[in-house]
Amino acid sequence: GDDTTSDGGVTGVGDIVHEGLRNLEYRGYDSAGVALVGASSGLTVAKRSGEVDNLTVPDVPDATLGVGHTRWSTHGPPTDANAHPHTDCAGDVAVVHNGIVENHEALKRELSDHKFTSDTDTEVIPHLIEAELAADPELDLLDAVQAVEDRLEGSYAICAVRETGDRIVVARRGSPLVLGRDDDATFVASDVTAFLEHTRDVMYLEDGDVAALSADGVEIYADGDLVDRGVETVTWEADAAEKGGYEHYMRKEIHEQPESLRQTIAGRLDVDAGDVELDVSFPPGFLADLEEIQIVACGTSNYAGRYAAQLFEELAGVRATVEIASEYEFGAGRTPDRTLVVAVTQSGETADTLGAVRRANAAGARTFAVTNTLGSTVTREVDGTAFIRAGPEIGVAATKTFASQVATLAMLAVAVGRDRGALAAADARSVLEDLQGLPGAVQQVLDEEPQVREAAREYRDSEAFFFVGRALGVPVALEGALKLKEISYDHAEGFAAGELKHGPLALVTPDTPVLAVLTDGARADETMNNVTEAQTRGAPALGCVSDGEEYNTLDVSFDVPDVGIVEPLVANVYLQLFAYHVANEKGRPIDKPRNLAKSVTVE
Ligand code: F6R
Repeated sequence: GDDTTSDGGVTGVGDIVHEGLRNLEYRGYDSAGVALVGASSGLTVAKRSGEVDNLTVPDVPDATLGVGHTRWSTHGPPTDANAHPHTDCAGDVAVVHNGIVENHEALKRELSDHKFTSDTDTEVIPHLIEAELAADPELDLLDAVQAVEDRLEGSYAICAVRETGDRIVVARRGSPLVLGRDDDATFVASDVTAFLEHTRDVMYLEDGDVAALSADGVEIYADGDLVDRGVETVTWEADAAEKGGYEHYMRKEIHEQPESLRQTIAGRLDVDAGDVELDVSFPPGFLADLEEIQIVACGTSNYAGRYAAQLFEELAGVRATVEIASEYEFGAGRTPDRTLVVAVTQSGETADTLGAVRRANAAGARTFAVTNTLGSTVTREVDGTAFIRAGPEIGVAATKTFASQVATLAMLAVAVGRDRGALAAADARSVLEDLQGLPGAVQQVLDEEPQVREAAREYRDSEAFFFVGRALGVPVALEGALKLKEISYDHAEGFAAGELKHGPLALVTPDTPVLAVLTDGARADETMNNVTEAQTRGAPALGCVSDGEEYNTLDVSFDVPDVGIVEPLVANVYLQLFAYHVANEKGRPIDKPRNLAKSVTVE
């Protein structure tokens, strides 16, 4: 879940917190709650399972402090009792928390005289705070949180308030927290989107930081010492995080891709010189001696990694492997100081991916992140970062961030290839021209949306959908299937086209359309042979085909503009639109598919 708070001299603190929760709802959404503190009203808590809009925020006119939370269950089902904030026995302390307290059972046993009312790991925190305050009446909330912090194992971002307090105390380890400050209020949230309408001046907390927020401002402590975390200005427009006329964030984000891709490559391509300026650096000689690039990522980001691995091998002449982050180990036979581990993670907060980065760091490998999120946890744990600059993505299903991840990784492959002397300037130039053409090519595909909608209407009730491709078409086939299953709840599977005949063909019937990537970079003719095998069993076939090519037997042919090695990435936009329209025809809750959350911060 997520926290947002506001503090100090503002009327309608409850409304500000409620609005902040709405802005963050995409990050987790099975329960919501708030705690408000006023000088004479004391502490008021309201919480319940369900969406943020179901929560009635109590009217507390004198409230000057508020904390709120939206929850995506990790410990205990989504019930009213398990919703945050959690309180201590006396009801004097309220806490909201993201992350997991791994040693909560041991801590609970120590607190045997405390009465617990939920199944959550979080609830130990207010009770620990209560115990600290009871043990020493001289302590204030800040001291107590600092003491409790030392005892928690796991990852957390917490915000705490006290009935008699005039400050919100927050702490961070492993889960994001960002502070904001305007003339008469102080804010804290897990994502700036929560309070962007109030201020753009933000401070990112670091792991281990504890901070106290009051009407007068913020004090940040690291190891008990006052520190200055520096103010950064957020340049995202607040309305970039809103739906802007589209029915769903997902469709808006699909349509934003020409613009987001332009931002991704802006100022980074030196086409004449055949080089890129990514603002990343490696120790002298590191890239020349590189033996392997290991890409670690989950889900859609993993597929972006699979696309990129082929580019690293082709353009940078270096062995590149892709691991599912939750399966990653630094395996035998590798030389840590000749291995670059690249974590691809849109959010920068995916627990599985952070776990892989930590294992790579522990093995002594050099680590690098490709992420969309400034100040995210991954950026603090790696040796270098490239930002994909896609802007905030609200739809749970990743779309524009996939495109920007692949584009960023392609630039990285060129940079590494040039540095290693593996890529001639002329060859680099041609890749950069493909990248330059990418936003326009994506726009051309978006202009074909009516054709995709029609196909979605025709095939929406099929029994299952198969996606196939070869080479760069394989990750796109996998991604196409993932997108469709996530948002339409239909059975969809993606695989290397050559594998059809090794098993999946048994599933093929006239009721299982096959969608194929038939572009440059995807060994189109060979793939078409496999598509024909499926057609022979009666399956309808839809293909994304390079401009100027023609496969007459296809039932539906989508035209992909000529942009070389990024053609499969452009083809993917057809598959995004197909998934969207199938799901939309079925009336699915596209931006919030059941059982899924935008940022998966548990392993
Ligand atoms: C699918 C999707 C997920 C994420 C995955 C990794 O549409 O969004 O599969 O790609 O959870 O998330 P990040 O990139 O934030 O690490």
